[in-house]
Amino acid sequence: MRIRPANEDLDLAVIQSLYDEAYPEPVPKAAQIVKNQQVRMAETDDGEVVGFRAVSPTGGIWIGVAADHRREGIGRLVMVDALEYASSLGLSELVSRVLENSAGKAFCDQFQFKPYVHAVNRSLDLTNWDDSALALKREQAQQAGIQFKTYADFGDTPENQHRLYMLNKTLSATIPRDEPQEFIAFETYVQQRLANKVLPHEGIFIALDGDDWIGMSQISLEEGYSFHHMTGVLPAYRGQDIAQALKSLTIGFAQLNHRKIIYTFNEVGNAPMIAVNEIAGFREGQRFFLVRRKPLIPTT
Ligand SMILES: CC(C)(COP(=O)(O)OP(=O)(O)OC[C@H]1O[C@@H](n2cnc3c(N)ncnc32)[C@H](O)[C@@H]1OP(=O)(O)O)[C@@H](O)C(=O)NCCC(=O)NCCS
Repeated sequence: MRIRPANEDLDLAVIQSLYDEAYPEPVPKAAQIVKNQQVRMAETDDGEVVGFRAVSPTGGIWIGVAADHRREGIGRLVMVDALEYASSLGLSELVSRVLENSAGKAFCDQFQFKPYVHAVNRSLDLTNWDDSALALKREQAQQAGIQFKTYADFGDTPENQHRLYMLNKTLSATIPRDEPQEFIAFETYVQQRLANKVLPHEGIFIALDGDDWIGMSQISLEEGYSFHHMTGVLPAYRGQDIAQALKSLTIGFAQLNHRKIIYTFNEVGNAPMIAVNEIAGFREGQRFFLVRRKPLIPTT
């Protein structure tokens, strides 16, 4: 068995099939992963590719082993290789995404990855999506004096970056979670959520009461689909259908940009957001965990 760098052409099919088989939706595109992450393949002495591992510059890790070669120690081999690489990058944390009750979860448990988010996937098929119910909520919110603008309307100034960051951070702290979660640093937020070409500023909607920013939603335009990020409304403004109004704007933005499907996920205990997504028509998918560990913990 040897571990070697992925080949950008020859290895794509096997990497894609391993993602397709076991990754919680939306399934990554192998070509993008190979381009943007460090991917290494496990190959037998006969030249058969039997697994791979991918590590992203921000500490995302994923491992896939061919179904007929599992429990032979290949996952462990590529995990150790990935952990060494992560340490060499100086990453403080590695995170992965594993389906509930899966081999991936058992495997990650074995390597001291601890769950920090327990979530359920949702998807909205836009083929025959009917906007009328949510559009009504938007009109009602507007009649009650709430305005909606995009982040692009305000402009990407340092002041607005801080404003959005603080709103998102405040909203994120109110998500019902098993375990409190630290919000990302300001610089990371700007880099990942505001200077990321799949997250256009026209797809960030802000709800306003006068000049106050009181709610937001954000959606991406990925290749072939959209991913719905944060939707949130400050506690004092809840129960007035503002989240549904924001959702109608982000969904409309995805439609306008010819996306046919929107993915999102919710923490399993986040009943209010799950209810909003159900009203919007999002169907429930598989449950999964986000898990994490420090790269430097010794493997057992
Ligand atoms: C998870 C996966 C990569 C494991 O690959 P593998 O080559 O079978 O793993 P290994 O043989 O090296 O297993 C290492 C240890 O993990 C644990 N483990 C692996 N699969 C397990 C399973 N199905 N049930 C319970 N424990 C398991 C065991 O402790 C195992 O050691 P042991 O066989 O000595 O008991 C493989 O099942 C897979 O490709 N699953 C789909 C992809 C996935 O979920 N990846 C997420 C992980 S990042």
